[in-house]
Amino acid sequence: MLNKKHILLGVSGGIAAYKCAHLVRLLVKEGAEVKVILTASAAQFVTPQTLSVLSKNEVLTDFFDANHLWNNHVHLAEWADVLLIAPLTANTLSKMAHGICDNLLLATYLSAKCPVLVAPAMDLEMYRHGSTKQNLEHLKTFGNTIIPAESGELASGLNGEGRMAEPETIVNYLKAELSQKLPLSGKKILVNAGPTYEAIDPVRFIGNRSSGKMGIAIAEALEAQGALVKLVLGPSFEPIHSKTIDVQRVETGDEMYEACLKAFDEVEAAICTAAVADYKPEHVANEKIKKSDSTFQLHLIKTRDILKALGTRKQHQCLVGFALETEQLETYAKQKLIQKNLDFIVANNATEKGAGFAGSTNRITIIDKHNNLINFELKSKQEVARDIVSYLITYMKWA
Ligand code: CTP
Repeated sequence: MLNKKHILLGVSGGIAAYKCAHLVRLLVKEGAEVKVILTASAAQFVTPQTLSVLSKNEVLTDFFDANHLWNNHVHLAEWADVLLIAPLTANTLSKMAHGICDNLLLATYLSAKCPVLVAPAMDLEMYRHGSTKQNLEHLKTFGNTIIPAESGELASGLNGEGRMAEPETIVNYLKAELSQKLPLSGKKILVNAGPTYEAIDPVRFIGNRSSGKMGIAIAEALEAQGALVKLVLGPSFEPIHSKTIDVQRVETGDEMYEACLKAFDEVEAAICTAAVADYKPEHVANEKIKKSDSTFQLHLIKTRDILKALGTRKQHQCLVGFALETEQLETYAKQKLIQKNLDFIVANNATEKGAGFAGSTNRITIIDKHNNLINFELKSKQEVARDIVSYLITYMKWA
Protein backbone atom coordinates (compact mmCIF):
# COMPACT_ATOMS: atom_id res chain seq x y z
CA MET A 1 0.00 0.00 0.00
CA LEU A 2 2.90 2.34 0.66
CA ASN A 3 4.79 1.16 -2.40
CA LYS A 4 6.05 4.18 -4.39
CA LYS A 5 4.07 6.56 -2.17
CA HIS A 6 5.71 9.87 -1.39
CA ILE A 7 5.88 10.25 2.37
CA LEU A 8 7.06 13.59 3.69
CA LEU A 9 8.14 13.11 7.30
CA GLY A 10 8.37 16.17 9.51
CA VAL A 11 10.30 15.67 12.74
CA SER A 12 10.00 18.17 15.58
CA GLY A 13 12.37 18.38 18.52
CA GLY A 14 11.61 15.88 21.25
CA ILE A 15 13.42 12.83 22.54
CA ALA A 16 11.04 10.57 20.56
CA ALA A 17 12.83 11.87 17.45
CA TYR A 18 15.28 9.00 17.93
CA LYS A 19 12.47 6.61 16.91
CA CYS A 20 12.10 8.26 13.52
CA ALA A 21 15.25 6.51 12.25
CA HIS A 22 13.42 3.21 12.68
CA LEU A 23 10.26 4.74 11.23
CA VAL A 24 12.08 5.86 8.06
CA ARG A 25 13.57 2.39 7.72
CA LEU A 26 10.11 0.76 7.96
CA LEU A 27 8.69 3.13 5.37
CA VAL A 28 11.54 2.52 2.93
CA LYS A 29 11.15 -1.24 3.42
CA GLU A 30 7.48 -0.86 2.44
CA GLY A 31 8.65 0.67 -0.84
CA ALA A 32 7.78 4.29 0.06
CA GLU A 33 9.86 7.22 -1.07
CA VAL A 34 10.66 9.28 2.00
CA LYS A 35 11.84 12.86 2.39
CA VAL A 36 12.51 14.29 5.83
CA ILE A 37 12.22 17.82 7.20
CA LEU A 38 13.83 18.36 10.60
CA THR A 39 13.17 21.38 12.77
CA ALA A 40 16.30 22.97 14.22
CA SER A 41 15.71 21.42 17.63
CA ALA A 42 14.90 18.00 16.13
CA ALA A 43 18.41 18.09 14.60
CA GLN A 44 19.75 18.14 18.19
CA PHE A 45 18.15 14.74 18.83
CA VAL A 46 18.75 12.94 15.54
CA THR A 47 21.31 13.84 12.90
CA PRO A 48 20.33 14.75 9.34
CA GLN A 49 23.06 12.35 8.15
CA THR A 50 21.38 9.35 9.81
CA LEU A 51 18.02 10.13 8.24
CA SER A 52 19.56 10.99 4.89
CA VAL A 53 21.32 7.60 4.72
CA LEU A 54 18.16 5.75 5.73
CA SER A 55 15.79 7.69 3.47
CA LYS A 56 18.28 7.81 0.57
CA ASN A 57 17.29 11.46 0.19
CA GLU A 58 18.63 14.79 1.30
CA VAL A 59 17.25 15.88 4.67
CA LEU A 60 15.96 19.44 4.86
CA THR A 61 16.28 21.63 7.92
CA ASP A 62 15.83 25.19 6.74
CA PHE A 63 14.31 27.38 4.03
CA PHE A 64 17.80 27.56 2.47
CA ASP A 65 20.32 24.75 2.12
CA ALA A 66 24.11 24.97 2.61
CA ASN A 67 24.47 26.40 -0.93
CA HIS A 68 21.90 29.12 -0.21
CA LEU A 69 19.40 27.41 -2.49
CA TRP A 70 15.78 27.80 -1.53
CA ASN A 71 13.97 24.69 -0.27
CA ASN A 72 10.59 25.41 -1.77
CA HIS A 73 7.96 24.42 0.80
CA VAL A 74 5.17 24.61 -1.82
CA HIS A 75 6.92 22.08 -4.07
CA LEU A 76 7.65 19.84 -1.10
CA ALA A 77 3.98 19.89 -0.12
CA GLU A 78 2.95 19.15 -3.71
CA TRP A 79 5.39 16.24 -3.89
CA ALA A 80 3.89 14.55 -0.81
CA ASP A 81 1.11 11.95 -0.95
CA VAL A 82 1.05 12.19 2.83
CA LEU A 83 2.61 14.56 5.33
CA LEU A 84 3.44 12.79 8.58
CA ILE A 85 4.70 14.75 11.56
CA ALA A 86 6.30 12.44 14.10
CA PRO A 87 7.10 13.24 16.78
CA LEU A 88 4.86 16.27 17.12
CA THR A 89 5.96 18.38 20.08
CA ALA A 90 3.67 20.66 22.08
CA ASN A 91 5.43 23.68 20.56
CA THR A 92 5.01 22.63 16.92
CA LEU A 93 1.44 21.50 17.66
CA SER A 94 0.60 24.90 19.07
CA LYS A 95 2.09 26.69 16.08
CA MET A 96 0.21 24.42 13.65
CA ALA A 97 -3.05 25.08 15.46
CA HIS A 98 -2.53 28.84 15.14
CA GLY A 99 -1.08 29.15 11.67
CA ILE A 100 2.42 30.17 12.76
CA CYS A 101 4.91 29.55 10.06
CA ASP A 102 8.43 30.30 11.29
CA ASN A 103 10.25 27.26 9.97
CA LEU A 104 10.33 25.03 6.88
CA LEU A 105 8.19 22.29 8.43
CA LEU A 106 5.41 24.69 9.41
CA ALA A 107 5.45 26.46 6.03
CA THR A 108 5.17 23.07 4.32
CA TYR A 109 2.31 22.08 6.63
CA LEU A 110 0.39 25.23 5.71
CA SER A 111 0.95 24.52 2.01
CA ALA A 112 -0.05 20.84 2.15
CA LYS A 113 -3.21 19.70 0.36
CA CYS A 114 -2.46 16.01 1.01
CA PRO A 115 -3.60 14.11 4.13
CA VAL A 116 -1.70 15.12 7.26
CA LEU A 117 -1.09 12.70 10.12
CA VAL A 118 0.53 13.69 13.38
CA ALA A 119 1.97 11.58 16.18
CA PRO A 120 2.19 13.73 19.33
CA ALA A 121 4.90 13.03 21.86
CA MET A 122 5.41 14.96 25.07
CA ASP A 123 5.63 14.57 28.78
CA LEU A 124 2.69 13.56 30.95
CA GLU A 125 1.53 16.98 32.19
CA MET A 126 2.12 18.64 28.83
CA TYR A 127 0.02 16.02 27.07
CA ARG A 128 -2.88 16.39 29.48
CA HIS A 129 -2.76 20.18 29.57
CA GLY A 130 -5.94 21.84 28.38
CA SER A 131 -4.14 23.85 25.69
CA THR A 132 -2.63 20.68 24.18
CA LYS A 133 -6.08 19.08 24.10
CA GLN A 134 -7.55 22.18 22.47
CA ASN A 135 -4.76 22.34 19.91
CA LEU A 136 -5.23 18.69 18.97
CA GLU A 137 -8.97 19.33 18.55
CA HIS A 138 -8.08 22.30 16.35
CA LEU A 139 -5.96 20.07 14.12
CA LYS A 140 -8.86 17.63 13.81
CA THR A 141 -11.08 20.44 12.55
CA PHE A 142 -8.46 21.06 9.83
CA GLY A 143 -8.95 17.42 8.75
CA ASN A 144 -5.66 16.19 10.20
CA THR A 145 -5.46 12.69 11.68
CA ILE A 146 -4.11 12.32 15.20
CA ILE A 147 -2.19 9.14 15.95
CA PRO A 148 -2.78 9.02 19.70
CA ALA A 149 0.16 9.02 22.06
CA GLU A 150 0.60 5.82 24.06
CA SER A 151 0.99 5.18 27.77
CA GLY A 152 4.19 3.97 29.35
CA GLU A 153 7.44 5.16 30.81
CA LEU A 154 8.35 8.65 29.63
CA ALA A 155 11.81 10.16 29.17
CA SER A 156 11.30 12.19 32.36
CA GLY A 157 10.91 8.96 34.33
CA LEU A 158 7.20 9.61 34.83
CA ASN A 159 4.69 6.99 33.81
CA GLY A 160 1.61 7.81 31.79
CA GLU A 161 0.27 9.05 28.48
CA GLY A 162 2.49 11.02 26.11
CA ARG A 163 4.83 8.50 24.48
CA MET A 164 4.88 8.68 20.72
CA ALA A 165 3.09 5.73 19.09
CA GLU A 166 5.47 2.98 18.03
CA PRO A 167 6.76 3.27 14.43
CA GLU A 168 4.89 0.05 13.47
CA THR A 169 1.62 1.62 14.69
CA ILE A 170 2.35 4.81 12.75
CA VAL A 171 2.93 2.78 9.57
CA ASN A 172 -0.44 1.06 10.10
CA TYR A 173 -2.15 4.46 10.40
CA LEU A 174 -0.54 5.56 7.15
CA LYS A 175 -1.72 2.41 5.38
CA ALA A 176 -5.25 2.87 6.70
CA GLU A 177 -5.26 6.51 5.58
CA LEU A 178 -4.07 5.67 2.07
CA SER A 179 -6.36 2.66 1.64
CA GLN A 180 -9.47 4.78 2.36
CA LYS A 181 -8.92 6.54 -0.92
CA LEU A 182 -8.51 3.42 -2.99
CA PRO A 183 -11.31 2.01 -5.16
CA LEU A 184 -11.15 -1.50 -3.70
CA SER A 185 -10.78 -0.32 -0.12
CA GLY A 186 -12.21 -2.96 2.23
CA LYS A 187 -13.45 -5.21 -0.61
CA LYS A 188 -12.76 -8.91 -0.11
CA ILE A 189 -11.54 -10.64 -3.26
CA LEU A 190 -10.64 -14.27 -3.88
CA VAL A 191 -7.90 -15.28 -6.31
CA ASN A 192 -6.75 -18.78 -7.15
CA ALA A 193 -3.47 -19.45 -8.88
CA GLY A 194 -0.78 -21.94 -9.77
CA PRO A 195 -1.02 -25.56 -10.90
CA THR A 196 -2.49 -28.48 -9.01
CA TYR A 197 -0.68 -31.74 -8.34
CA GLU A 198 -2.78 -34.90 -8.60
CA ALA A 199 -1.11 -37.82 -6.87
CA ILE A 200 -0.46 -41.10 -8.69
CA ASP A 201 1.39 -42.71 -5.78
CA PRO A 202 3.34 -41.34 -2.78
CA VAL A 203 6.14 -40.02 -5.03
CA ARG A 204 4.52 -39.19 -8.37
CA PHE A 205 1.89 -36.76 -9.52
CA ILE A 206 0.25 -35.26 -12.59
CA GLY A 207 0.98 -31.55 -12.76
CA ASN A 208 1.39 -28.78 -15.32
CA ARG A 209 3.74 -25.94 -16.15
CA SER A 210 1.74 -23.13 -14.55
CA SER A 211 4.03 -20.95 -12.39
CA GLY A 212 1.34 -19.02 -10.51
CA LYS A 213 2.99 -15.71 -11.58
CA MET A 214 -0.10 -14.24 -13.23
CA GLY A 215 -2.38 -14.98 -10.26
CA ILE A 216 0.14 -13.70 -7.71
CA ALA A 217 0.55 -10.50 -9.77
CA ILE A 218 -3.24 -10.08 -9.79
CA ALA A 219 -3.45 -10.65 -6.03
CA GLU A 220 -0.78 -7.98 -5.49
CA ALA A 221 -2.43 -5.55 -7.94
CA LEU A 222 -5.78 -5.99 -6.14
CA GLU A 223 -4.16 -5.34 -2.79
CA ALA A 224 -2.46 -2.23 -4.12
CA GLN A 225 -5.97 -0.89 -4.85
CA GLY A 226 -7.05 -1.53 -1.25
CA ALA A 227 -8.62 -5.00 -1.52
CA LEU A 228 -8.42 -7.63 1.20
CA VAL A 229 -7.14 -10.53 -0.83
CA LYS A 230 -7.43 -14.25 -0.19
CA LEU A 231 -5.08 -16.20 -2.47
CA VAL A 232 -5.61 -19.95 -2.80
CA LEU A 233 -2.33 -21.10 -4.30
CA GLY A 234 -1.38 -24.44 -5.78
CA PRO A 235 2.27 -25.59 -5.71
CA SER A 236 4.17 -22.50 -6.85
CA PHE A 237 7.75 -21.40 -6.24
CA GLU A 238 7.15 -17.76 -7.09
CA PRO A 239 7.81 -15.16 -4.38
CA ILE A 240 4.89 -13.24 -2.89
CA HIS A 241 6.12 -9.77 -1.99
CA SER A 242 3.12 -8.67 0.06
CA LYS A 243 2.96 -9.92 3.62
CA THR A 244 -0.67 -9.01 4.09
CA ILE A 245 -2.27 -11.16 1.39
CA ASP A 246 -4.02 -14.10 3.08
CA VAL A 247 -2.34 -17.03 1.31
CA GLN A 248 -3.75 -20.55 1.63
CA ARG A 249 -1.45 -23.12 0.04
CA VAL A 250 -3.07 -26.22 -1.42
CA GLU A 251 -1.83 -29.10 -3.53
CA THR A 252 -4.70 -30.90 -5.27
CA GLY A 253 -7.68 -29.72 -7.27
CA ASP A 254 -9.94 -31.06 -4.53
CA GLU A 255 -8.16 -29.00 -1.87
CA MET A 256 -8.39 -25.93 -4.10
CA TYR A 257 -12.08 -26.59 -4.72
CA GLU A 258 -12.86 -26.82 -0.98
CA ALA A 259 -10.83 -23.69 -0.14
CA CYS A 260 -12.41 -21.58 -2.92
CA LEU A 261 -15.98 -22.63 -2.25
CA LYS A 262 -15.55 -21.97 1.47
CA ALA A 263 -14.30 -18.43 0.82
CA PHE A 264 -16.68 -17.52 -2.01
CA ASP A 265 -19.80 -16.42 -0.08
CA GLU A 266 -17.79 -13.79 1.79
CA VAL A 267 -16.15 -12.11 -1.21
CA GLU A 268 -17.23 -9.46 -3.70
CA ALA A 269 -15.25 -10.90 -6.58
CA ALA A 270 -13.31 -14.01 -7.50
CA ILE A 271 -10.60 -14.23 -10.14
CA CYS A 272 -9.74 -17.81 -11.07
CA THR A 273 -6.36 -18.02 -12.75
CA ALA A 274 -5.41 -21.50 -11.52
CA ALA A 275 -4.45 -24.20 -13.99
CA VAL A 276 -6.49 -26.89 -12.29
CA ALA A 277 -5.85 -30.41 -13.60
CA ASP A 278 -8.83 -31.51 -15.67
CA TYR A 279 -8.27 -35.18 -14.78
CA LYS A 280 -6.83 -37.05 -11.82
CA PRO A 281 -5.97 -40.72 -11.24
CA GLU A 282 -9.04 -42.69 -10.20
CA HIS A 283 -7.04 -44.51 -7.54
CA VAL A 284 -3.95 -43.26 -5.73
CA ALA A 285 -1.57 -46.15 -4.99
CA ASN A 286 -0.61 -46.40 -1.32
CA GLU A 287 2.89 -47.60 -2.16
CA LYS A 288 5.30 -46.49 -4.86
CA ILE A 289 4.32 -48.22 -8.11
CA LYS A 290 7.09 -50.56 -9.31
CA LYS A 291 7.88 -50.80 -12.99
CA SER A 292 7.01 -54.15 -14.57
CA ASP A 293 5.50 -54.32 -18.05
CA SER A 294 6.69 -52.30 -21.00
CA THR A 295 3.51 -50.24 -20.95
CA PHE A 296 1.59 -48.77 -18.06
CA GLN A 297 -2.01 -47.66 -18.02
CA LEU A 298 -3.35 -45.01 -15.73
CA HIS A 299 -7.08 -44.56 -15.42
CA LEU A 300 -8.06 -40.94 -15.01
CA ILE A 301 -11.33 -39.36 -13.95
CA LYS A 302 -12.52 -35.78 -14.33
CA THR A 303 -11.80 -33.31 -11.53
CA ARG A 304 -14.48 -30.92 -10.36
CA ASP A 305 -14.56 -27.57 -12.17
CA ILE A 306 -14.04 -24.93 -9.49
CA LEU A 307 -14.99 -21.99 -11.68
CA LYS A 308 -18.17 -23.66 -12.85
CA ALA A 309 -19.14 -24.46 -9.26
CA LEU A 310 -18.59 -20.81 -8.29
CA GLY A 311 -20.64 -19.71 -11.32
CA THR A 312 -23.54 -21.86 -10.14
CA ARG A 313 -23.32 -20.44 -6.65
CA LYS A 314 -22.78 -16.83 -7.73
CA GLN A 315 -25.05 -14.13 -6.28
CA HIS A 316 -23.67 -10.60 -6.00
CA GLN A 317 -20.08 -11.59 -6.85
CA CYS A 318 -18.18 -10.61 -9.97
CA LEU A 319 -16.72 -13.83 -11.36
CA VAL A 320 -13.68 -13.79 -13.63
CA GLY A 321 -12.14 -16.78 -15.39
CA PHE A 322 -9.16 -17.43 -17.63
CA ALA A 323 -9.05 -19.27 -20.91
CA LEU A 324 -5.76 -20.54 -22.27
CA GLU A 325 -6.26 -21.73 -25.82
CA THR A 326 -4.13 -22.78 -28.76
CA GLU A 327 -6.76 -22.08 -31.45
CA GLN A 328 -10.10 -20.26 -31.91
CA LEU A 329 -9.34 -18.13 -28.85
CA GLU A 330 -12.43 -15.94 -29.07
CA THR A 331 -14.90 -18.75 -29.79
CA TYR A 332 -13.71 -21.01 -26.96
CA ALA A 333 -13.38 -18.13 -24.50
CA LYS A 334 -16.96 -17.01 -25.21
CA GLN A 335 -18.20 -20.58 -24.70
CA LYS A 336 -16.48 -20.79 -21.31
CA LEU A 337 -17.83 -17.36 -20.34
CA ILE A 338 -21.40 -18.58 -20.88
CA GLN A 339 -20.99 -22.17 -19.62
CA LYS A 340 -19.34 -21.06 -16.38
CA ASN A 341 -21.65 -18.05 -15.81
CA LEU A 342 -18.78 -15.50 -15.74
CA ASP A 343 -18.85 -11.73 -15.79
CA PHE A 344 -15.74 -11.59 -17.90
CA ILE A 345 -13.02 -13.88 -19.14
CA VAL A 346 -9.35 -13.22 -19.74
CA ALA A 347 -8.22 -15.14 -22.79
CA ASN A 348 -4.72 -15.78 -24.01
CA ASN A 349 -3.10 -17.88 -26.65
CA ALA A 350 -0.63 -20.50 -25.36
CA THR A 351 1.18 -20.70 -28.69
CA GLU A 352 1.82 -16.98 -29.06
CA LYS A 353 5.37 -15.75 -28.36
CA GLY A 354 5.56 -14.02 -24.95
CA ALA A 355 2.12 -15.18 -23.78
CA GLY A 356 0.96 -18.06 -21.62
CA PHE A 357 2.24 -20.04 -18.65
CA ALA A 358 5.80 -19.76 -17.43
CA GLY A 359 7.13 -16.49 -18.91
CA SER A 360 7.07 -13.03 -17.37
CA THR A 361 4.90 -11.43 -20.08
CA ASN A 362 1.41 -12.00 -21.41
CA ARG A 363 -0.94 -10.73 -24.10
CA ILE A 364 -4.57 -10.91 -23.17
CA THR A 365 -8.01 -10.33 -24.59
CA ILE A 366 -10.86 -9.53 -22.21
CA ILE A 367 -14.39 -10.51 -23.23
CA ASP A 368 -17.28 -9.63 -20.95
CA LYS A 369 -20.80 -10.97 -20.78
CA HIS A 370 -22.14 -7.90 -22.61
CA ASN A 371 -19.99 -8.93 -25.58
CA ASN A 372 -17.41 -6.19 -25.15
CA LEU A 373 -14.02 -7.34 -26.38
CA ILE A 374 -10.70 -5.61 -25.71
CA ASN A 375 -7.33 -6.69 -27.07
CA PHE A 376 -4.33 -5.63 -24.99
CA GLU A 377 -0.68 -5.28 -26.03
CA LEU A 378 2.06 -7.70 -24.96
CA LYS A 379 3.02 -6.54 -21.45
CA SER A 380 4.73 -7.72 -18.26
CA LYS A 381 2.49 -9.88 -16.05
CA GLN A 382 2.45 -7.05 -13.47
CA GLU A 383 1.09 -4.61 -16.08
CA VAL A 384 -1.40 -7.21 -17.33
CA ALA A 385 -2.53 -7.70 -13.71
CA ARG A 386 -3.12 -3.95 -13.35
CA ASP A 387 -5.15 -3.93 -16.60
CA ILE A 388 -7.36 -6.77 -15.31
CA VAL A 389 -7.85 -5.03 -11.96
CA SER A 390 -8.74 -1.75 -13.72
CA TYR A 391 -11.26 -3.60 -15.88
CA LEU A 392 -12.81 -5.15 -12.76
CA ILE A 393 -13.07 -1.73 -11.08
CA THR A 394 -14.71 -0.16 -14.14
CA TYR A 395 -16.96 -3.15 -14.81
CA MET A 396 -18.26 -3.13 -11.22
CA LYS A 397 -18.44 0.70 -11.15
CA TRP A 398 -16.25 0.72 -8.03
CA ALA A 399 -14.56 3.98 -9.01
N1 CTP B 1 -10.98 -24.22 -14.09
C1 CTP B 1 -11.42 -24.58 -12.82
N2 CTP B 1 -11.49 -25.89 -12.47
C2 CTP B 1 -11.14 -26.86 -13.33
C3 CTP B 1 -10.69 -26.52 -14.62
C4 CTP B 1 -10.60 -25.18 -14.97
O1 CTP B 1 -11.75 -23.71 -12.03
N3 CTP B 1 -11.21 -28.12 -12.94
C5 CTP B 1 -10.94 -22.81 -14.45
C6 CTP B 1 -9.56 -22.21 -14.65
O2 CTP B 1 -9.05 -21.68 -13.45
C7 CTP B 1 -9.80 -21.13 -15.68
C8 CTP B 1 -10.99 -21.65 -16.49
O3 CTP B 1 -11.58 -22.67 -15.69
O4 CTP B 1 -10.20 -19.91 -15.07
C9 CTP B 1 -10.64 -22.20 -17.83
O5 CTP B 1 -9.86 -23.31 -17.73
P1 CTP B 1 -9.55 -24.31 -18.93
O6 CTP B 1 -8.83 -25.49 -18.37
O7 CTP B 1 -8.91 -23.57 -20.05
O8 CTP B 1 -10.96 -24.66 -19.42
P2 CTP B 1 -11.73 -25.96 -19.39
O9 CTP B 1 -13.08 -25.57 -18.92
O10 CTP B 1 -11.02 -27.00 -18.59
O11 CTP B 1 -11.80 -26.36 -20.93
P3 CTP B 1 -10.77 -27.08 -21.91
O12 CTP B 1 -9.78 -27.84 -21.08
O13 CTP B 1 -11.65 -27.93 -22.71
O14 CTP B 1 -10.15 -26.00 -22.71
